[in-house]
This record gives sequence, C-alpha cells and structure tokens, in this order.
Amino acid sequence: MKLVNILIGWTTAQWASQALAAPSPVRRAGFGTYADDMFTTAIEWNDGYWDDEAGYLIAAASNPGRYDARHTAWYATQLLARNAPGDVARAIRIFDNVIAGQYLDPSKQWYGDYQQSPSEPEPGTAEYPDDGPYSSWDPNIRDFVGCAWLMALNDYDHLLPQKTVSKIEQSLHIAAKGDLYRVGGVDGDNLYPCYSNPWIMRTILQNWVGTRVGDANLTQSGEKFAQELYDLWSMHHTLSEFNSPTYSGVAMWALALWSHWNELAGLYNANLKNLAGPWDRTYGYDMKQYASLVGAVIWGAVGRDHAPIPQQTSGMYHGDDFAFYPLFAMVMPEMLKYLSAESKASLVKFSEPRLYTAQAFSPPFDTYPRNITTWLSENITIGAETVAQEVIGGAAKSTSAFSPAVIQWAIDEYQIGCISHWVTESSIDAVASSNGLKISYPNATSSDASVSFNFLFSGLSRRNGFNVTGLEGLPALDLRVKTNAFENYTIVYDTDQSVNDFIFYNITYTVPAGLAETPFISLELV
Ligand SMILES: *[C@@H]1O[C@H](CO)[C@@H](O)[C@H](O)[C@H]1NC(C)=O
Ligand SMILES: *[C@@H]1O[C@H](CO)[C@@H](O)[C@H](O)[C@H]1NC(C)=O
Ligand SMILES: *[C@@H]1O[C@H](CO)[C@@H](O)[C@H](O)[C@H]1NC(C)=O
Ligand SMILES: *[C@@H]1O[C@H](CO)[C@@H](O)[C@H](O)[C@H]1NC(C)=O
Ligand SMILES: *[C@@H]1O[C@H](CO)[C@@H](O)[C@H](O)[C@H]1NC(C)=O
Ligand SMILES: *[C@@H]1O[C@H](CO)[C@@H](O)[C@H](O)[C@H]1NC(C)=O
Ligand SMILES: *[C@@H]1O[C@H](CO)[C@@H](O)[C@H](O)[C@H]1NC(C)=O
Repeated sequence: MKLVNILIGWTTAQWASQALAAPSPVRRAGFGTYADDMFTTAIEWNDGYWDDEAGYLIAAASNPGRYDARHTAWYATQLLARNAPGDVARAIRIFDNVIAGQYLDPSKQWYGDYQQSPSEPEPGTAEYPDDGPYSSWDPNIRDFVGCAWLMALNDYDHLLPQKTVSKIEQSLHIAAKGDLYRVGGVDGDNLYPCYSNPWIMRTILQNWVGTRVGDANLTQSGEKFAQELYDLWSMHHTLSEFNSPTYSGVAMWALALWSHWNELAGLYNANLKNLAGPWDRTYGYDMKQYASLVGAVIWGAVGRDHAPIPQQTSGMYHGDDFAFYPLFAMVMPEMLKYLSAESKASLVKFSEPRLYTAQAFSPPFDTYPRNITTWLSENITIGAETVAQEVIGGAAKSTSAFSPAVIQWAIDEYQIGCISHWVTESSIDAVASSNGLKISYPNATSSDASVSFNFLFSGLSRRNGFNVTGLEGLPALDLRVKTNAFENYTIVYDTDQSVNDFIFYNITYTVPAGLAETPFISLELV
C-alpha cells in the first residue's frame, strides 16, 4: 500500500479501524511467533520494574524522578493484551494514577500533558520553572501515552469497567486538545512535519480521538497533519528523520505499516547487525549494545537471534526503550503485511555490496535537501550526508544524536568498531564511497581559529593488549588519512566523556588558522 493511501485516502473510520487494527481481541499474545517471544520477554522485563506499593514502574534510566509515568502508561496497554490473573486490575490502577498526573489548566502550554514522574512539582512554578518544552514537562508524552492508550481502548475496552473507559476517553480528549497548542517555532516548540515520529503519532491521535469522542475539529486537524506529512514525504520519498535507529522504529510503530521496509532493508547490514550510517538521530554507535526500536521491529520480523539487540537485557544501553517493545509486538501482524520476502531475507543475511543513495529534507533547519550516500559491504559500512543547516547538530540540535559521517566494521566475530564524526560545523559535505569517506567544511572561513575534525572511535571493548594510537592502524580496518589540517592529531580516552553511554577515543585534527582552502579530511580504505 502506498503512503498516499495511508495518509490521505482514508476516512476517519478507516483510520480508526485499520491503522491500529487488532486481528482479534481476547488473547494472550497471538501476534506471531517472534512477536510473541518479544512481547513476553519485554513485558516480563517491565514486570521486574513494577512497584506494587506505588502502582508505577520504577524508572529504568535517566528520568526526573523515581518512577516513570510514560513507561507505566505503556505497560497498562501491555497488561490488557496479556490479561493474566491480576493484569486488568493492575492496568486500571495505572490509568487512575497516570490520569491523576495530567495537567488540566487550559491556559498552560502543557495543557493535557502528563507528568514525567509522579514526584514532579507543578511546572512553571518557582521551584520547578518552565524553561519551555522538554524542561519541567515533555510535550511528546501526550502522543506517546495517547497512542498507547488508544490501542488499549481500540482493542481491549471490553475488559474495562465503563467508568474507566469514559475516564480514559476524557483524558485522551484533553491530551489531543493540548497537542494542538503545539506549533513549530512558536513558544519554543519544535513540532514540525520534519520531526517525523511525534508528528505521525499526533496525526493518529487527533484522528482517532476525534472519531471516538465526536470532535470534528480534532478529526480535521488529523487530516491536515497527514497532508502536511505526505507533502514533505513526497519530495524525496523519505521521512525527514532519515534512518534513525530509534525514531524509524517509532514511525513504523505509529503507522504500523510503512512502505519503507525497503529503506530499512537497504541500509541494514545483517552481518554487522547494524543500520549503516549516516544517522540523523541516534542513541548509540552499535545496536548490539543498546536497545533501539528498529531492533524491536527486526526481532518481530525475523526473531531475536537475528535482531540487532543486546545479548544481555541487564545493562544494555538506552534500556528505557525496552519498555516499549511489547507495544511493537502488538502491531507486528499489521507491520509484517508490508514486508517483502526479499527485504525479509536481507534482515537475516547480508545480500551484496551496494551503494545506497537518498535525499531527505528537514525544513526549516535544512537550507537544501540532504544528500545521503552509504556504502555497504559484508564487513564494513560507510555512510555520510551533505548538510547545510542553520544549527549545529541536525534538526534535533543535538551533537550527540546527529552522526552525519560514520564507518562501522567487524573488528572480529563479535565486536563492532565505529568511527563517528563529531559535529562542530553546521555545513558539512560528507560523502561515502567504496573507497572511504571524505568530509569537508564548505562554510568554515579562514578567520575561524578553532576549526577541527573530531572523530569518536568506540567498540573495542576488549583491548587484549592492542594499543589504539589513531585512525590509522585500527584492528581489522586499514585506513589512510589525508587532510589539509595539521597531520599531528590529539587522541584521548576519557571515561568522564561518554556519549550515549559509549566510551570512546577522541581523535582530533586541527585546521591551521588562516587556511585559504576549504578544510577537508579523507579516510581512505587501503
Ligand atoms: C481546532 O484545531 C486547530 C488546529 O488544527 C486549532 O488551531 C484550533 O484552536 C482548534 N479549535 C478549537 C475550538 O479547539
Ligand atoms: C544532491 O544531489 C542532487 C542529485 O544528485 C544534486 O542535484 C545536488 O546538487 C546535490 N546537492 C548537494 C548539496 O550536493
Ligand atoms: C568478512 O570477515 C570474515 C571474518 O573475518 C571473512 O571470513 C570474510 O571473508 C570477510 N568478507 C569480506 C568480503 O572480506
Ligand atoms: C554557507 O555559505 C554560503 C556562501 O557564503 C551561504 O550562501 C550559505 O547561506 C551558508 N550556509 C550556512 C548554513 O551558513
Ligand atoms: C602498548 O603500549 C604499552 C605501553 O606503552 C607497551 O608496553 C606495549 O608493548 C604496547 N603493545 C603493543 C602491542 O604495541
Ligand atoms: C601540530 O603542529 C603544529 C605546527 O607544528 C603546531 O602548531 C600544533 O600545536 C601541533 N598540534 C598538536 C596537537 O600537537
Ligand atoms: C574531542 O576532543 C576535542 C579536542 O580536545 C574537544 O574539543 C571535543 O569536545 C571532544 N569531543 C568530545 C565528544 O568529547
């Protein structure tokens, strides 16, 4: 099915019945062999965080409090799907708890949002100031909770007392109305159609809630949002948040069907069990070490043994996202309808060396569409994009998430090495080929005294006596560096400077002040 049908051709009733359709209610799992395995593994992981005295899940990682309201809200839907003894009662407790933490003052920007944690003071007070979205409140929680709970109502409302059903409907209605306060660029808000993952969730939330409670304004807003996303997608047939190990997963979950299985298959290296770069938004440098949502998609499609997920669920980086996995299992039957046999095969076995090219556009941040080039071979992938933006760090304005130039390779049978370019410029020409990676800074001027090329190398978790001395001579990667920067670089291994939990060697080449040419560096495969 084409995205056009999904996004604009459907009536609201079709949205409601199909976008998150459950094949049959009342069942334990029943989402498919691999999805059931994922559902059970991950809900049991969540069970381990349940605090029965509080009626919340303990926060798995960084969170502004002891308990995590968003994870707990997701868990309620999962409990209804499992429906083991005690599960429904536990879910009802959660709905009561989380709804009690919803913000109800329509004059506030966080109207309809939910607390991040039940210990949080009221945002916008002297003790907990409002410094805009993502400070004392997180505007995306409306969408994350909303989409999880509309699954609960859509598929499992027959398990709940009418009183609870009405309470959830009312809460979602307020959440959807509050979501309409979000306008990209106004009051510090960043929700543009290019912020693909929450934009898709808001679209579904508006449409579904509008239909459910009979609020035509919400339904119409949903259709308008779908059109805006579709117009942007149509330009290059890519989502703006291109190739994100986490957010592509959210987008696939939210649509529960995405004609972009092909894009995922094209960029995935089944031998390295990683999505090749570049990554617009990432939470790590090796998917075998951190929980990603594309990991959930692949587990559901081809099973845990083939999926890019950590061997150990204890101690995995970005473990927070594991709490989301059971909801992925639940939409897997719908998602798998659009997975071709060919794409499926490439999730299991690396097919053939190839150069993948694409374009993606993130207005208002990009001044022109980003050009993406990715070389994939069995043991090495090299991915890059040219970008000229108004900010450093991509549309998310995050240097730790934006990786516009990346090399990944098999150090040995288990370890994946990663060299990621650390961004310090807003205009970067980075191009990948089978010969290597070339990066230049077209807008760095000779008056800039501190222009540099920074690379983070990670992945050698067992050094076994090997000394890392620079980009040249790394294990199982024969690189030669050419640059018009100073050839003497600095290299530091500093355990206080982890990025996305990964510890790395920071290798920095400094550009001489007054350099007349465009600064460049190339890492050539020998
Ligand atoms: C209707 O939705 C639009 C956004 O699509 C919003 O700006 C407007 O305030 C809404 N109107 C009401 C009455 O909620
Ligand atoms: C990106 O690629 C397109 C198509 O090949 C080309 O026309 C355009 O000039 C490229 N843009 C940049 C900034 O390299
Ligand atoms: C990839 O690495 C494996 C293990 O070292 C090796 O057997 C294989 O030949 C390599 N493939 C290529 C294309 O070099
Ligand atoms: C880069 O420099 C060019 C030429 O001076 C200019 O047109 C463009 O706006 C600059 N881009 C950014 C993102 O600063
Ligand atoms: C690594 O460095 C240490 C200390 O400088 C040295 O003793 C050792 O021989 C080096 N190992 C290799 C394999 O070069
Ligand atoms: C590299 O060499 C240049 C020129 O000799 C010198 O100015 C600079 O301080 C050196 N940088 C490092 C990191 O050693
Ligand atoms: C890497 O080192 C350079 C030079 O010391 C520094 O400016 C930069 O912030 C470091 N990057 C990270 C991610 O620590």
